[in-house]
Amino acid sequence: MKENRPSATAQRVAMRRAVHQLLDDPKVLDDPVALRIIGKESASALRADPHQFEATPLSPYLRAFMAARSRCAEDELALALGRGVRQYVILGAGLDTFAYRNPHPEGGLHVFEVDHPATQAWKRERLEEIGFTPPADLTFAPIDFETKTLAEGLRSAGYDPNKGTFFSWLGVTPYLSTEVVMATLRFIASAPVGSGVVFDYVISPSLLTPAQRSSFDALARRVALAGEPWQAFFDPVLLMRDLRSMGFGYVEDIGPGEINAMYFKDRKDGLRVGSLSHVMKAQV
Ligand SMILES: C[S@@+](CC[C@H](N)C(=O)[O-])C[C@H]1O[C@@H](n2cnc3c(N)ncnc32)[C@H](O)[C@@H]1O
Repeated sequence: MKENRPSATAQRVAMRRAVHQLLDDPKVLDDPVALRIIGKESASALRADPHQFEATPLSPYLRAFMAARSRCAEDELALALGRGVRQYVILGAGLDTFAYRNPHPEGGLHVFEVDHPATQAWKRERLEEIGFTPPADLTFAPIDFETKTLAEGLRSAGYDPNKGTFFSWLGVTPYLSTEVVMATLRFIASAPVGSGVVFDYVISPSLLTPAQRSSFDALARRVALAGEPWQAFFDPVLLMRDLRSMGFGYVEDIGPGEINAMYFKDRKDGLRVGSLSHVMKAQV
């Protein structure tokens, strides 16, 4: 990320979720806050012409993936609540809206939004601007993953390491160093039994076909131009092996075939995800 600047990709991802609300039927992620969180100006521009933000052939695939990974994380969170988990940590939250439309208000769930301090300060200004008071069961934890450990940052925010916790980490791992990604996953693996995580990651370019490689190059160029170059890529087989050796008892890699079967089956509009990224589920 650019020094002390809020993440530009956080706004872009939120725009895609907002476009999903306007263009796609049925919705994979039903998010009544998605259009408000992008800010008043962007929301009216999108409402006037939802297609303007979807200008490239890759756009529908990205939009589909962003809706699906959030849906997958929230489906897994619901299962974790059934196991007694009562803490939800959203890592690199960006303009994630879960805390402002929490569908489990009676469950005693405490939400921690962890993000780079610059992005988090910007989100809090945005919330004020759109008239959203952060709910009492939400705590903001400003943490730069590259300079502060998650353990340290979460402890000072009041996180209880002895309680089962569900973590989501969406659209963040590519922007960090491999060492930081692994250290964060080791921290999650040390949470009590029943805890879990859903995160997404970009496939190592060496595993891609030439056609996939050209999509990869186009996207990598775009995020680098936004000042947030991709750094970490993974081989699904090796990543699953590493997660098991960290102590996760259940690990499931969800590739594009599975995501499309889970969330995009029998659609009339043909919306589906592409093949550059996977979602990983892991449970302690
Ligand atoms: C592409 S956005 C995804 C945001 C959100 N998870 C979503 O799906 O809408 C990437 C997020 O990673 C965060 N991020 C990137 N580098 C970070 C770092 N070193 N420490 C903390 N957060 C970081 C950014 O602030 C941003 O919120």
